[in-house]
Parts: sequence; structure tokens; C-alpha cells
Amino acid sequence: MKKSGNSLLGSKTSAGSPRVAIAIMAAGKGTRLKSQLPKVLHEVGGKPLLAHVIAAATRVVPPSDVFAIIGHEAGRVRAAVADTGVNFILQAEQRGTGHALMVAQSALSTYDHVIVLSGDAPQITPQTIARLLNFHLDQQAAMTLLSADLDHPTGYGRVIRRSARSAEVQGIVEEKSASPAQKKIHEINAGFYVFAVPQLFSNINKISTANPHGEFYLTDMAEVLRKARLRVVAWKTENSAEVLGANTRAELSFIDFQIRMRKCQQLMDEGVTIFYPATCVIDNDVEIAPDSVIEPFVQIMGKSRIGAACRIRSYSVIRDSEIGEGVLIRPGSILEEARVGASAVIGPYSHLRPGSDIGEGAHVGNFVETKKIRLGKGSKANHLTYLGDAEIGAGVNIGAGTITCNYDGVAKHTTVIEDGAFIGSDSTLVAPVRVGRGAYVGAASCITSDVPEEALAVGRARQIVKEGWVREKRAASKPK
Ligand code: UD1
Ligand code: CA
Repeated sequence: MKKSGNSLLGSKTSAGSPRVAIAIMAAGKGTRLKSQLPKVLHEVGGKPLLAHVIAAATRVVPPSDVFAIIGHEAGRVRAAVADTGVNFILQAEQRGTGHALMVAQSALSTYDHVIVLSGDAPQITPQTIARLLNFHLDQQAAMTLLSADLDHPTGYGRVIRRSARSAEVQGIVEEKSASPAQKKIHEINAGFYVFAVPQLFSNINKISTANPHGEFYLTDMAEVLRKARLRVVAWKTENSAEVLGANTRAELSFIDFQIRMRKCQQLMDEGVTIFYPATCVIDNDVEIAPDSVIEPFVQIMGKSRIGAACRIRSYSVIRDSEIGEGVLIRPGSILEEARVGASAVIGPYSHLRPGSDIGEGAHVGNFVETKKIRLGKGSKANHLTYLGDAEIGAGVNIGAGTITCNYDGVAKHTTVIEDGAFIGSDSTLVAPVRVGRGAYVGAASCITSDVPEEALAVGRARQIVKEGWVREKRAASKPK
């Protein structure tokens, strides 16, 4: 096996050790999900099933030794995980898990052992994969399978041991072919295996499609290899949650829940308060520093990072955003690819769109939408405002209902508002335009040309007052 800096295989990885590949079966359609989307691209914990399995695999061997077997919607699957650097093998026709390995034969022929993972079982850990391999090597087996005891084993293949205490396996029987007695077995085949490559490929042509699905079952290799007098063993994991596959929408949602609960548990262990965690959706890659409080019904997704002592109030949705220390996000705010400086206050009902950079101690309030702006330290935009493509300095006050008119129907233009400026309510700033340092814009102004430093600009019609107008109108309309 090639050396890898982050390998988990311990002493077994040292020079002279066997070459190990990982093959991930990910070619199936996922008929039971009744979906246009291929099964392995369905998401749990905010990431496709396959991305979880690849992440675990690439912590055991380098990406160059990982082979994803793809078939149904192969282009789409490949594109979704291309950035992981793993190899792809095309199984153009999906004729079963055994067939998936048949098509991988030439790619795997230079390895001594292959670890086979299921692309639809996302909770597998690198530690378990490494332990399975080590057990396989210690046992000098031709095939080692991962098993687990499940309270509800229905749907899984059952492991038939040669005797109750033996590591050796007689065979695996699929649910559809199991006898009533075999259905009572709680030890299931997890769908993760290690094979000695030469033994696998010199015997794989012995499996057939004589089963209820008319497919080549990889599970049949247990009996085939045993009959060839080769060693087939099972290693049982205590952590049965790890092996669950997402074959149905219900299983998908259950696994998603488990992953999210684990994430919340981890954050709570690290000092984050989460009220009603079952109502919160926090993606795996999210980081939250201690003493922050997450209220019910909050979603924090993607690569978001939240500093210490923040409070994220209910119904806020935060994606790929960076939030400094001591920030208060009031209810119902939406942040996407935004940055918020320390001690800022956002919301309620603010929408920070991509490229919003909110300075330290700044306030963005009720029904304010921002996009691609910098709002300087301590500046305030508290009510009913649209700020797009704007450079706004420190200590600026943006009055209620201010609009930056950034789009002329063809191109976007920038509004610059320098430090300490005051924009009166209901103003429109027609970009490109600049309001100088400390300048004032009178309420309801339409600003179309630059305002010099410390000047007052008023751009609205002068008020007209007609004394007694109502009285005269009333008199004129009275019936004679
Ligand atoms: C399989 C096992 C079963 C085990 C269960 C664990 C077989 C015959 N049965 O059943 O014993 O308990 O996993 O989760 O293997 N795939 C391909 N090419 C194909 C067919 C499938 O790549 O031609 C992929 C699928 O995309 C999936 C994986 O192989 O990621 C497993 O296939 P699936 O149909 O889900 O097998 P199960 O019925 O769950
Ligand atoms: Ca499955």
C-alpha cells in the first residue's frame, strides 16, 4: 500500500505491507427512493451519501487508491464528487453488486486487497474500515465482511456463521431468499467487505444470477470462496448505526436525523447551547465556538463559522457565512455567503445575500436586504432598505427605506458612502454615486450626482402649501 500521511492503518502501512485499494459501489439507481436523482446523491447531514463514504475512505487510503464504481447517471454522480480526487470506474449496466466488482477487475488487479464499501451507507467511520482491514489481514482471510446486530434486520442480508462462536461464515442469505428461520437472525451483512484480490477475481465468475432479482450478488462470494476452501470471516461492529443504508426516504431521513443529532451533541460537548436540538439543522462542517446559543428552528449550513458568545435566534437560516464573536442574529434572518463582524446585530428579518460584509458593531435591521456591500464599523441600516453594490464607511446612518439603485438595466454600478454620512429616510441613491465624508442627504431625496464632504444634498420637489384649500373645496361642492 502506498504511504499516506493521514492513514489510519497503523503499523500495517509500513514498507513491505500489502497494497490496499478501496472500491465504493455507487452505480445503482435507488429504485426504492422513487427519485430522478441517483441514490448516492441524496443528501444527509447536508452532503450527498457518496461524499460521506468518500470522506471516510480517503482517511484510510489516499484518493488515488479509491475507486468509485458509478453507472446510473454517472456524469452527474462524477461531477458531484469530482473534487475529492478519487478514481471512477464505469459500470454501464447495473447487474448487481457482484457485477460492480467484475467491472472493476482490471483497475484493481495491481492491489493485494480491496476494501469494498457501499455508497449508500454514509455513517461508516475510517476507524471501522481500518479495523475491518486489520481483522482481515490478521485472519489471513480471502473475504472478511462487516456485520452488526440490528433490532430490525428486515431488508438486510443475514450472516450465517459456521458455528455460534466462530469467526467463520457459511454464507450470506438475502432477505428475499431467506427461510423463516433465517429471517430471525439479527446479525446482518453491512455491505462492507475486504477481499484478497487474487482470490476474489479467480472465483468471481462462479457467481450467477439465479436469484429473485436476477442479479450477480457480491454476497454469494462468501459461499463461493468457502466452497473453494478459502477463509471467509465476519467482524461484528458494536456501533450498528454505522452500517445503516439509505434505501428508502424513511431510512434517508432517519440517517439524516442521526447525523444531525451527533453534530449537535458534539457542539454541546464543546460548550455550545442548543435549545431543542431536534428542531435545528446544523451541517457537519459548521463550526461554532463556545458560549454561543442556538435557539429552536435554526438552520446553519455549509461551511459556516460562528464565533464565541453569539446568539442565533429562531427561524434564522445561515449558509456558508462567517460570524464574529458576540453577534446577535434576531429571528427570521437569512445569511448567505456573508461575513458579520464582532458584536454586530442582525435582524429581525434581515436578508444578507452573498458578498455582504458587515462591520464590527454594525446594525442591520428589519426587512433590510444587502448584497455585495461593505458596511463599516458601527454603521446602521435598521429599517426597510436595499443596499447592493455599495461601499459604506464607518459610523454611517442609513435611514429607513433607503435604496441604492445599482442596476441601470444593463450593468451594475457602485454607491460609495463615506464615514459619518447621514442618509435621510426614503432616499434613493442612483449609482454610480458618492456621498462624501460627514455629508447629509435630506429625507426623500433622489441623489443622482456626488455629494461633497460635509455638504447637505436635498433632491426632492419643494413643498407647496395652499392655505384654506380644503375649506374652499368643501364650499364649492356643497349642493345648492
Ligand atoms: C446489499 C447486500 C445486503 C446487505 C446490504 C447492506 C447484496 C446482494 N446485498 O443489499 O446483503 O445487507 O447491502 O446495506 O449485495 N450497486 C452498484 N451496482 C449494482 C448494484 C448496486 O454499484 O449493479 C451499489 C448501489 O448503488 C449501492 C450498493 O451497491 O450503493 C448496494 O446496493 P443495494 O441495491 O443498495 O443493495 P442492498 O439491497 O441494500
Ligand atoms: Ca443498500
